[in-house]
Amino acid sequence: MSAYDRGVLRSKILGLGSYVPERVVTNEEIAYLDERHVRHETKRTETTDEWIRARTGIEQRRYVPNDESTTCSDLAKWASERALADAGCSASEVDCIILATLSPDIHFPGTAVFLQSRLGIDGEGGCPCFDIRQQCSGFLYALQMADNFVRGGQYKRVLVVGSELHSHSLDYSTRGRDVMVLFGDAAGAVVVGPTETDDPREGILYTKLGADGSGAMDLHLKVFDSKKMPHIQYNEKWGVPETMYPQMNGKKVFLNAVRAMNLSTRAALEATGLTWNDVDWFVPHQANLRINEAVVHYGEIPPEKVLNSIQLYGNTTAATIPLTLDHHRKEGRVKKGDLVVSSVFGAGFTWGAAVFRV
Ligand code: UT7
Repeated sequence: MSAYDRGVLRSKILGLGSYVPERVVTNEEIAYLDERHVRHETKRTETTDEWIRARTGIEQRRYVPNDESTTCSDLAKWASERALADAGCSASEVDCIILATLSPDIHFPGTAVFLQSRLGIDGEGGCPCFDIRQQCSGFLYALQMADNFVRGGQYKRVLVVGSELHSHSLDYSTRGRDVMVLFGDAAGAVVVGPTETDDPREGILYTKLGADGSGAMDLHLKVFDSKKMPHIQYNEKWGVPETMYPQMNGKKVFLNAVRAMNLSTRAALEATGLTWNDVDWFVPHQANLRINEAVVHYGEIPPEKVLNSIQLYGNTTAATIPLTLDHHRKEGRVKKGDLVVSSVFGAGFTWGAAVFRV
């Protein structure tokens, strides 16, 4: 009798995949780009490679082609196909989609239904589709949902995706440089399904999430303001809606990220009874290498067990966890079955940690 039949279900990650666009934008190049990602002769933004590297650790990021051909759900599709292939299952077997993004295709409907169509599994009898709007914490928020759906016996193949197309909504000028240099485009995905075992050290061992709405406006992108009439207001001076670009209180976000990721990582180890000797990898959210170095320092985490990818991809918000894992799997470091502790922090404020085998 399988664990599924006995009603003692646990869930596990069946497959992992990621996608990054081909175009590499270096720190040197980004200063010369306009909002259509065209390189100019003279600088458009007062920033330097030295500043970006020293403050964030970022060296380059990826951008989708600047021909208006790509959507967030395209990136999600390409990552999902890789995760499905890795899991050895077809799109038609997916019985639930949970997609995390802060850069949706359009305001509504959510992007998960566009992904469903792009995967060719829409139509009568189509699976339920959820959008998660928890920014940099979105992937772990989605993973907790998937874990509980599978444990509860509701679904057997949950596609969990973090996908972001940031490069179309950034302020390519000195005014927006603090945020603009941070973000890149990418997607990552996993397929979650039931395990054959009820061993508590297998599959997804632990997820715990949190949020503090008092930090909501410390990192936000309005796009519109529903109390205004009409709800999008133009700024004569800027020549674009004043709500168009992300706004951030960088120092406050930084300090809260270090604190929340440190505390949630410690709580994850305590709850599971694991030590760093038992764990193969620590995979923190990739917002700033300095945040991760501080979390590693305060958490006394062995540096050789820490996986980062922000140097190459920038902050890809909901995509960072599966992208970082997949990047290091391709490099030959991460192996199937490795035990991972992950912690995240993002706008909201939101945060969380998870322990799982990849
Ligand atoms: O996933 C969650 C999302 N975001 C984060 O986690 C980000 C958290 N915050 C951070 O990573 C950092 O706060 C930043 C990297 C965004 C900024 O670093 P900082 O050390 O906090 O710099 P700052 O905002 O205090 O700015 C210092 C100076 C300012 O100039 P003045 O006023 O001292 O003359 C900024 O205008 O650096 C200037 N600055 C820049 N200079 C060159 C800000 N952005 C840039 C830039 N290039 N891109």
